[in-house]
Amino acid sequence: MFTYLTLTNWYKEHGRDLPWRYKPDDYTVWLSEIILQQTRVKQGLNYIIKFKENYPTVHDLAHAPLDEVLKLWQGLGYYTRARNLHTTAKVISEHYNGIFPDTFDELRKLKGIGDYTAAAIASIVYKLPVAVVDGNVHRVLSRIFGIFTPIDTSTGKKEFAKLAQEVMDKENPGTYNQAIMDFGALVCTPKKAQCDSCPFNNSCYAYLNNCVYELPVKSKKIKVRPRYFNYLVIRYKNFTFIHQRSAKDIWNSLYEFPLIEKEEEIKPEDIVKTLEWLAIFGNEEVTVQKISNIIKHQLSHQTIWCRFYNIVINKPTAKLLADYQKIAIKDFEKFSIPRLIDAYMVSPDNEKFFKHSSSSNENNSYF
Ligand code: ADE
Repeated sequence: MFTYLTLTNWYKEHGRDLPWRYKPDDYTVWLSEIILQQTRVKQGLNYIIKFKENYPTVHDLAHAPLDEVLKLWQGLGYYTRARNLHTTAKVISEHYNGIFPDTFDELRKLKGIGDYTAAAIASIVYKLPVAVVDGNVHRVLSRIFGIFTPIDTSTGKKEFAKLAQEVMDKENPGTYNQAIMDFGALVCTPKKAQCDSCPFNNSCYAYLNNCVYELPVKSKKIKVRPRYFNYLVIRYKNFTFIHQRSAKDIWNSLYEFPLIEKEEEIKPEDIVKTLEWLAIFGNEEVTVQKISNIIKHQLSHQTIWCRFYNIVINKPTAKLLADYQKIAIKDFEKFSIPRLIDAYMVSPDNEKFFKHSSSSNENNSYF
């Protein structure tokens, strides 16, 4: 039978040793929970440490320039989270005396704080008996109690919220909430669940009925849109060209190289025939030194198929100077860029391209 006592006993022995658990303060718990939304603990931990080092208090974060916060966030993706983090830090610093509100409803009003995060802060920091419901909780409860209602329907959401609230330890809500999340992350996992060592295996519906991997149920398959990106990584003496992406699309306000986006994949040799290429380079002499393989970059609702073109030019065109920022290559690392570009910059494909001196063999053309 599922009891919170069995769960919290498991947690005492096997729970993860996470830094905010010893003495959970509002700022650290909020910061950690925002970073851990859509990010695994293992990956998020270094970011939590980095943010705390750079911004020991919510006031420090509030006073930091947004660009600096975005740069520190680089690699985590979903940059709206970082923007909301900064906005909420300012609100807490300016209007709440630097202390997060101590009720679920007040927490819920802050930007970037949804039901999950409000419940996490309310229970872990303020010991309020509110159950968290995240992917781990869906998985653990659906399997143990045999619930086949899809988690992404309004009926499902209500049913899981009600059950989560019923079975929680209301005396120790912070410990219980973290216990069920750790249990979902370490034992009752999406694949290769540790059913043999699970303390609930004598009563778990899914285990006893051999349907562990059928649960939880989701009703919708998300539609994934393919996009085809061609990035022009240009070297002109010791400079390159970038621009800042704008709102209403992925990667709002991050920087990128000149981009030729197409509806379909184009052959590398056909890039020079596109109108966009002609608009950027006109008749100027251009040396394409290297073209990367196509790289797949998966986002939640989009698949980006991307190629990078390493290009050397001797003279910047009017279009490049008008529509892009000319920056020194050595300054490139100061800009916040999407993870896709960051990964390419350090890849062997791009090896030394930016490090080449202008005396290197520039006529080493791809075509
Ligand atoms: N995932 C996100 N927040 C967590 C927490 N506080 N404990 C365990 N897993 C988590």
